[in-house]
Order: sequence, then structure tokens, then C-alpha cells
Amino acid sequence: MSEFRIGIAGLGIVGAETARQLITAKERLSKRAGKTFKIIAVSARNENKDRGFTLDDISFYKDPLKLLDHSNIDVIIELIGGEGGIALDLCQRALQSGKHVITANKAMIAHHGFELSKLAEDNNVTIQFEAAVAGGIPAIKVLREGLASNQIDYIIGILNGTCNYILSEMTSSKRAFPDVLKEAQKKGFAEADPSFDIDGVDAAHKLAILSAIAFEQKINFSSLYISGIRHVSDIDINYAEKLGFCLKLLGIARRDSVAEITMALIASDEQLASVNGALNAVSYRGVPVGSSICIGPGAGAGPTSSAVLADLIDIATGLANFAYGSPVGTLSEQILDLNNSFKQCYYLRIAVTDKPGVLSEVSSILRDHGLSIASMIQNEQSEDGSVFLVLTTHKCVKKDIELAAIKISNFEYVLGDPILIPIYDSSSFV
Ligand SMILES: NC(=O)c1ccc[n+]([C@@H]2O[C@H](COP(=O)([O-])OP(=O)(O)OC[C@H]3O[C@@H](n4cnc5c(N)ncnc54)[C@H](OP(=O)(O)O)[C@@H]3O)[C@@H](O)[C@H]2O)c1
Repeated sequence: MSEFRIGIAGLGIVGAETARQLITAKERLSKRAGKTFKIIAVSARNENKDRGFTLDDISFYKDPLKLLDHSNIDVIIELIGGEGGIALDLCQRALQSGKHVITANKAMIAHHGFELSKLAEDNNVTIQFEAAVAGGIPAIKVLREGLASNQIDYIIGILNGTCNYILSEMTSSKRAFPDVLKEAQKKGFAEADPSFDIDGVDAAHKLAILSAIAFEQKINFSSLYISGIRHVSDIDINYAEKLGFCLKLLGIARRDSVAEITMALIASDEQLASVNGALNAVSYRGVPVGSSICIGPGAGAGPTSSAVLADLIDIATGLANFAYGSPVGTLSEQILDLNNSFKQCYYLRIAVTDKPGVLSEVSSILRDHGLSIASMIQNEQSEDGSVFLVLTTHKCVKKDIELAAIKISNFEYVLGDPILIPIYDSSSFV
């Protein structure tokens, strides 16, 4: 068997596991690829850290760009991270020098994926990034290869394990967000700085990548509407339950009308509602397949290195092709438009001073905006005299309900900003 030579930049959670697998499962992986995998050189900041494998016949560099000095390396595996900086520099130079690239770097791909892919095409090599999106599923291969014949109409995903873990725990243990976040950090489900996860940015990176492949469009990351779970309240989780829903952070992309990361209520009998803990899930709807859902682990050393190694086998066997399914030049410019007439139901919780006439005023504002109420709960008066009005609406356009919520918030009897959450219903997307 001929040799397939590898350089790995970044030996952290994913990089070290990828290297360990390449060493311990070398025979199995090489047999699959029909080529003998050999790690030629690696790079990380600290040479002396124990990473669970020895560097015996592997060159080590602190500077990742030194990997490119090995002209015999066939593929650079970039596992450093970061949207730009050294990771982007390394990938650009590797492609320019005719080396294939594999990366798990969703931030870099969401922002620079099209230019990197074009660079790969221009240099007759490929860049692959299965590990960037829910590696253990594997979400990109399902879409790009398994569903290749389809016109995909929409994708709905639970794309961030940290958020899904936190929301699931809040639901099952009836605890508040700060408490559950702390626990998630202790258990390793959340980073010390969890902002990228809980503010929805990580999920948005993944949604942008999936949307580009699904809709064959150059998705502009900055056009995505992104909100996270930082301000989630156990009050809404409890009301959602009473109404027969659960609360999830969803990535929702529809061919021509929606691309957003948002908390949403899902009916308890929807398939996505049963995806709990740190699991990810992606539901695809396309023609002719209909609906298809995939569930699996989206992060961690095992699932992510599994996806990296799958890309490696594809490249070694010559199966890897265009990362977005077709040449970058054939992708259309983005037609996703968020200011559109897509309709869905909404959940609205308003804290009000309990006075006669409040409900009729709220109702009349909703009516003035063409909104009709589907259900309503009003709780018992609390000690300070306030009550929650919890409404669900029939299907309406987002800007109408947002305008109504702003008007409602201006009334003197309304305490704080109303909470507005969309209700995901798979039938709305058909
Ligand atoms: N962790 C996951 O579950 C997961 C899942 C999906 C995708 N990803 C993506 O995979 C990539 C790697 O993530 P990770 O969790 O493995 O990160 P990590 O544990 O922080 O590892 C980063 C590695 O890069 C090295 N590094 C950082 N800056 C460097 C520099 N300037 N020069 C050379 N080496 C440098 C570090 O060296 P030292 O070890 O010496 O500090 C470390 O080995 C990221 O793009 C991430 O988004 C991760």
C-alpha cells in the first residue's frame, strides 16, 4: 500500500484523539483507505504536554506553518480553532501549496469557507469539514451525499449540545439557568467562558454551513438572526410544559425565508422534542425524500475525531470532492430573506399588575395587529399584586407580533419586557 502522509496542527481535545486513533487503529483505518496513514509532523504550543502518544518518529513544531516545510505531506489537519489568525493562514497556505485540508473549525468555515473551497478547487485539492457540524451524526455527509438527489426545503437542528444539555436539565430538574450552567461547566458540558455556546453563535456557524450545502447558496454569516439561551427563564420552561411543549434552542433554515438560531417551543410529540442532554439532531425535509432526522453526539473527542478521520479516508480514497456538493462558482448568491411573510405561532408571556381591563387591552392590541389568540393561561396573583398572562397565538408574521409586544410593553401596567418565543411546528414548514 502506498503511504498517505499527514500533518496535524493542534493537539487539544480533537487533535490529540485524532492522532491517537491514527496510531492505535492504524491498521483498520489504512485498510479502509487502501493507503498506509503516517503522521509526519504535528504542531501545538506546548511540546511537553502528555497527549497519550509518543512523538518517536513524528516531528514537532510550535509554529504550525512549519508543517508546510514537509513537501511530502499530503494533508494538513487543522485542529487549532479560531475564525481567522493562524488557523486560516495555515489552511490558505496548505491549499496554495497543493495539500488537502481537513478542519473541524466551524467559525473559520462559516466565515471563510467559500474562499477556502475556491482555493482548493484552484489548486486541484480539497478541503473537508465534516467535523465542523455535529461530527458524530454526521450531518454534512447525510446532506451532501446521502440526500444528494434532493431539493432540500428546510433544515431544523438542535446544533449545540451545551444548550440542549442546559435546557433539558432545567426541564427535568426544575432548576434555574445559572445553577444548571454551573453544573454543566463542572461536568465538562460547558466551557469556562460559555458565551459562544449560550449566545447561539456556535449553533449559527453550523447552521450557516448546513444551509449553504442544503440550498446551494453562498450564505452570508452576518445575515443570520442569532439569539441564544442566556436569558432563558425556568418560568417559561414550566409554562411550556403546562401547554404541552418543551423549550429547545433550534437552528431553523428554510430555502428562501428563514435562517435563525432561536429558542422555540416544540410540541412534546415532535421528534426533536425527545432529543435531550448533550445530543444534537438535524431534521431535513426534501423532495423526493420527505422528512428525515438524524440524531447523535455533536462534540467531544470521539465524535469529532470520528468525523475528521472519515474525511481523511475519503480524501485518501479519492472520494472527497466539492465541500459544498458542487463547485463554489455554481452556488447562487444568498436569497434567504428574513423580512418575509413566513408565518408561525408564538408564545407570549406578559407580567402585569392585576387590574380589571388589562386583558381586554392586551387583546385589542393583538387584534389591531391582526393577531388572534389560540390559548391563554393566567396564574394566581403573587404577593406583589402581579400576574403572568401567558398566550399562544395562531400563525402570524414575526414583525407583527414583535410590534404588538413593543406596544404592550409601553403600557404602565406591564412589568418588564414581554417574553416572545416562536412555536416550532413541523407542519408550518411543509
Ligand atoms: N472539542 C470539541 O468537542 C469540538 C467539536 C467540534 C469542533 N471542534 C473544533 O475543533 C477545533 C479544535 O478544538 P479543540 O476543542 O480540540 O481545541 P483545544 O482543545 O483548545 O486545542 C487547541 C489546540 O491548538 C493548539 N494551539 C492553539 N493555538 C496555537 C498556536 N498559535 N500555534 C500552535 N498550536 C496552537 C493548542 O496547543 P496546546 O495544547 O499546546 O495548548 C491545542 O493543542 C476547533 O476549531 C473547534 O471549534 C471541537
